[in-house]
Amino acid sequence: MRQTDMKKLNQMYEGKAKKVFATDDPDLVIVSYKDDATALNGKKRGTISGKGVVNNQMSNQLMKMLEKNGVPTHFVEEISDTETVVKKVTIVPLEVIVRNVAAGSLSKRLGVPEGTPLRKPVIEYCYKCDELDDPMVNEYHIAAMGWADDDTMKKIATYALKIDKLLIAYFKKVNVDLIDFKLEFGKTSDGTLILADEISPDTCRFWDSKTHEKLDKDRFRRDMGGVEEAYEEMARRLQNA
Ligand code: TMP
Repeated sequence: MRQTDMKKLNQMYEGKAKKVFATDDPDLVIVSYKDDATALNGKKRGTISGKGVVNNQMSNQLMKMLEKNGVPTHFVEEISDTETVVKKVTIVPLEVIVRNVAAGSLSKRLGVPEGTPLRKPVIEYCYKCDELDDPMVNEYHIAAMGWADDDTMKKIATYALKIDKLLIAYFKKVNVDLIDFKLEFGKTSDGTLILADEISPDTCRFWDSKTHEKLDKDRFRRDMGGVEEAYEEMARRLQNA
């Protein structure tokens, strides 16, 4: 039985992996997850069959867990395999990346082999701008450009590290190492900062704890094959979390 009583209205936005629909409640929107996949800021395109279902369900399961542990999120109610009612937010225009193990762009930039554990978690920020390929920025750029104030950035860093701890422990139970991930935050109409967007194999690096097999979108980004199987494997493991 649906708890949120609202009508799905017009499409407000279509992104690379999701569509967002308005509802007749001005504070709620419906997110619809797609199977479409892009990488290299849209230069590589494809479809990952079943991804919409996996990402919707995984993101909701993780957001519910975070919410229970004191992290406010946009999650309201899952209404179908690929659709969820979420709180409407104005997105802080930053990708917040948290890293526990060197991989991807950090490995390239700093010449550190992938898989090297980091002594402590690293937080990075990228300015969300497709035309500029989401450039990395620091707190000084963010304050200078007015993308977020100091109080918001303090809260974002505190939440990001808390989310990291909670997710590491959650994935450890299903033999998955959380290498790194990307978060997005937004503000509701009353100004409250909450976690938005998604947490899924599209936005995280997941490695099998023993074999270090990649169970995430790197299989698509790097043409490794077994992409659908990796998403399904993560979904299967989380059923036991
Ligand atoms: P990176 O190593 O390519 O910078 O990626 C770090 C993490 O952030 C990785 O888990 C993938 C995720 N990510 C996104 O979800 N969206 C993006 O646009 C980028 C660049 C990274």
